[in-house]
Amino acid sequence: VSAPSLDLLRTRALARRLEAVLNVSDARAAARRTLPKALFEYVDGGAEDELTLARNERAFHDLTFRPRMGLINAEPKLGTTVLGTPVSMPVLTAPCGGMRLVHPDGDMGVARAAAAAGTIPVVPAAAGVSLEEVAARVPAGPRWFQLYRFHDPKLMAGLVERAQAAGYQAMVMTMDTVVPGNREQDRRNGFSYNMRINARSAVRQAPRLARHPAWLSRFVRDGMPFELANIAGPDGQRMALPAMSRMAADSQSPTWDDVEWVRDRFHGPVVVKGILTADDARRAVNAGAVAVIVSNHGGRQLDGAPATIDVLPEIVAAVGPDVAVLLDSGVRRGNDVLKALAQGARAVLIGRAAAWGLAIGGQAGVERMLDIMRAQILRSMRLMGLTDVCELNAAWVERSR
Ligand code: GLV
Repeated sequence: VSAPSLDLLRTRALARRLEAVLNVSDARAAARRTLPKALFEYVDGGAEDELTLARNERAFHDLTFRPRMGLINAEPKLGTTVLGTPVSMPVLTAPCGGMRLVHPDGDMGVARAAAAAGTIPVVPAAAGVSLEEVAARVPAGPRWFQLYRFHDPKLMAGLVERAQAAGYQAMVMTMDTVVPGNREQDRRNGFSYNMRINARSAVRQAPRLARHPAWLSRFVRDGMPFELANIAGPDGQRMALPAMSRMAADSQSPTWDDVEWVRDRFHGPVVVKGILTADDARRAVNAGAVAVIVSNHGGRQLDGAPATIDVLPEIVAAVGPDVAVLLDSGVRRGNDVLKALAQGARAVLIGRAAAWGLAIGGQAGVERMLDIMRAQILRSMRLMGLTDVCELNAAWVERSR
C-alpha cells in the first residue's frame, strides 16, 4: 500500500470512529479506551468524593423545559454575541491544562476547532504550545487568554504583555485555584506533582502505556511533551505541569487586587472565572471585570461547592444586564446550554467534552463535539418552539423536583 492511500485509510477510519460518537458520553467512553488510565482519570476526575462533579450534571437534569407547540421555526438562530463578539453558537471552549498530553493537536487543535466552529477558544496559561504559536497558527478570529495568579509578578506581567502583543482580546482570570483541589485519583495514579517521563518512569509505565498503542505512538512522535510552553521557572527553563501546580500551590490566593492589577495592564476586557456567589460576582465587577464565568472548575477544586446552574440566577440578578455572565461545569448536552441561557447565561464553556473529542480525533474530534452540540441545540430549539437563543429566559424552564 502506498503512503497516500494509507493516509486515506487513516482518515476514513477516523471519520468512521467520529461518526459513531453521538454524544459526550460516547466520546468519554472512546477516550477511556484511547488514553492511559492516569491521563483519562486526570481529565475525567473531580475532587474528593466528586459530589460537586455529580451535582453539576444532576442540577441540569432537575430543570425541565416549558416547550411551546404549533409554531413553525424552520431555521432557529443560535448565533449570539459575547462581549460584543459574534459567535455562531453560545458555546466556547474552556481553558484546560494538559491537552497536549491528550493528543499532539492539543491546545492548537482545540483553538482551531473553536475557530472553525465560529466561536471563541479560551487558551489556557497551562498550554502545551506557546500563546504566540496558537495566535500564529489559528485562523484569525477572536480568542481569549486564561491566566492564573503566579507568585512571581514578573511572570504574570510577562504573560499579560505577551497575550496583549499576540492579539488576545480578553483576559480570563481564574480565581478558584488558591491551591490545587484534592484529586485523590491523581495521587493514586502518581499523576500530579511528581510525574516526569524519564528513562526510569518510562520503564515502569511501559506495560500500562503499551495498552494504548495509538496514544503512545502519537505521544512519542510528539516528543513526549511535558513542559508548559508559556511558563518559564525561576531558572528560565519551561516548567512541567506538575511543577507549575506546585508553584501555584506555593503562591498566595489570587486576590481582587490582582484583578485590578491585570485590568490596569491589559488593554481589553477582563473576565473573572470561578465565581459561585452573588457577593463575589459584585466584587469581580468592582475590581474591573466586565464579565464573570460561573464555574466550580468542573468539580475539580472544592468538593461540596454548589452546581453552577443552581447559583447562576442569583449571580445574574446581582450583576445586572451590563455584565455578561458565562457558565461552565457540567455542560454535557445541547439541552444544558439552553437551560443555562434560560437561567441568564450569555454563553457556556465546554472543557471535558472538548477534551474527549481531542483524545479520540485531535482537532477533528473537537470539531465533531462542537457539531454535536450545535445539532442538539438546534433540534431542541425546534422541539421547544424557540426561534432565537437570545429569546431564552426563565419562562422556558422550571425546576422539576
Ligand atoms: C487545572 O486547573 C486542573 O483543573 O487540572
